Amino acid sequence: MGLNPYAPKPVRIIRIKDETPDTKTFTLSPNLFESFAPGQFAMLTVYGVGEAPFSICSSPFDKDRLQFSIRRMGSVTSAIHEASEGEEIGVRGPYGRGWPVKEMEGRSILLVGGGIGLAPLRSLILHLLENKNNYGEIAVCYGARSPSLLMYRDEFEEWIRRGVDLHLTVDVGEGDWKGNVGVVTTILDKPKLNRADTVVCTCGPPVMIRFVLKKLVELGYSKENIYASLESKMKCGVGKCGHCHFGRKHICLDGPVFKYSEMLELPRGISPF
Ligand code: FES
Repeated sequence: MGLNPYAPKPVRIIRIKDETPDTKTFTLSPNLFESFAPGQFAMLTVYGVGEAPFSICSSPFDKDRLQFSIRRMGSVTSAIHEASEGEEIGVRGPYGRGWPVKEMEGRSILLVGGGIGLAPLRSLILHLLENKNNYGEIAVCYGARSPSLLMYRDEFEEWIRRGVDLHLTVDVGEGDWKGNVGVVTTILDKPKLNRADTVVCTCGPPVMIRFVLKKLVELGYSKENIYASLESKMKCGVGKCGHCHFGRKHICLDGPVFKYSEMLELPRGISPF
């Protein structure tokens, strides 16, 4: 009898970190994936509750652990949020097409994130920093609704120290926030990059992606070099169940990362246009 591709494998939650008031980052061990690309996702199972897809947010070079940042939204995410360190959950994957790290080599990179959309970009940032000599400038524009909803705040200093040109913004300033206030499109002109040749990767709420794509083109970034990770409901993760089927594309197989030109061909319901 062949191995069941849908069977989750058990892993242990070894660390839970509060990221924002509604999002926690879970560190799982062991890392059962031989390898994964930044931008790929995995299915996590809470036994007796259900299964859901999540972007892997850890470094592809961390062979011991996997990390997922999870916002409390439904039954599976609530059950994971209620789990404790030491508990066992299930994992299967990695799935999907991640960021085009090979095509990005030798080029400058701009990453644009919104809210929890920074999770799959964090995996990419860690990949780029680990291979810094293979890439040009690395800039990140990141926005959240408020300062307390910025993900990975305690890592920003380290990213900057390692050469990331980081620009932050919030929709509504609060507390001692002295940075930019406004949506992420208001800071896209800040990084000083050779726009025509820079590869851009973006992830965030669909409405944010729509306005980011428009603004990037206005600023002179080439459509040829723009990629976005799109959100979709996924169930099997392997192109069988039809839950993520849009037109001729399965988001779980052909995405979640799509090139600008591919997004133009996606039907309503998933296309950011
Ligand atoms: S999640 Fe089942 S076909 Fe994509």
